[in-house]
Amino acid sequence: MLIRHLRANDPKPSEITSRHAYLNRRAFMAAGGAVLAGAALPAAGAASRRLDFATTPHGAGLEVSDREDATTYNNFYEFALDKDGPAAESKAFRPRPWSVRIGGACHRPGDLSFEDLIRPHRLEERIYRFRCVEAWSMVVPWVGVPLGDLLKRFEPMGSARYVAFRTLFDPEVMPMQKTGVLEWPYREGLRMDEAMHPLTLMVVGMYGEVLPNQNGAPLRLIVPWKYGFKCIKSIVSIDFAEEMPRTTWSTANPREYGFYANVDPEVDHPRWSQARERRLGDGLFTPKRDTLYLNGYADRVAHLYAGMDRNKLF
Ligand code: MTE
Repeated sequence: MLIRHLRANDPKPSEITSRHAYLNRRAFMAAGGAVLAGAALPAAGAASRRLDFATTPHGAGLEVSDREDATTYNNFYEFALDKDGPAAESKAFRPRPWSVRIGGACHRPGDLSFEDLIRPHRLEERIYRFRCVEAWSMVVPWVGVPLGDLLKRFEPMGSARYVAFRTLFDPEVMPMQKTGVLEWPYREGLRMDEAMHPLTLMVVGMYGEVLPNQNGAPLRLIVPWKYGFKCIKSIVSIDFAEEMPRTTWSTANPREYGFYANVDPEVDHPRWSQARERRLGDGLFTPKRDTLYLNGYADRVAHLYAGMDRNKLF
């Protein structure tokens, strides 16, 4: 079990949405029906952090992790190397105004504000399992846009086989970027068919509200069948590429972290087994859970990897 000490500037427990309150609010929004896409994002600087979104059947029946766990046990190396560091160290980070550069092998490259990138789409909420390579997991109601719908607007060329993503580089607000713990900016990539798969989300919120800084504000990737490190945060550029892009973790340690990073209980990490996982919020004596192939999404995505050697292309 995690024991946490409240710091002076942490949100008060009364300010944090409990799972119960969250689920009630969700039921209320679902009852309210569809919401116009144009109204889905709060205006920059608005006091409200609430998002309007369409609910979807994704993840019905999964037990959602506590918001507190999902927003205080993070990996965001730009801010801190430990798990409770990102929430504390990212408070001064201002994710608006924000712009994203779209480029590479596409017919409509350009620089778009966060609002222009997201507003044409209807936001959806999807409850997905999330499995970190470090063998912890959680279940989160993400709010976002299918990445494929967003990418199509930029008319990728036929030669585009991959999509490459980059995080903001700003060592003044992301203090660990002054160190060499990783090569900055953080980079990730997907094969085009993975990026266009309807499960892949460009996420702008969680638990019905805009993303907290520590979870990758203002926009991050969620690919639910891959280990968490593929889910790059605070994205500033999207490039269509003909060659497989270099990624942060596979550059830092290619023996341990591959390009694919598909959740696979049968392919061990060189230093630990990937067969089981600890769900955030579970007590010390709760048994670990079995990890599912492709994190439980095999029926939707296993065909993408047919014939591929899982031990070589991990
Ligand atoms: N993106 C950036 N830019 N920097 C990071 O350090 N960490 C990755 C991924 N995206 C990371 C990142 C890892 S290792 C994980 S497990 C997830 O973010 C964690 O996401 P969460 O903090 O929302 O749970």
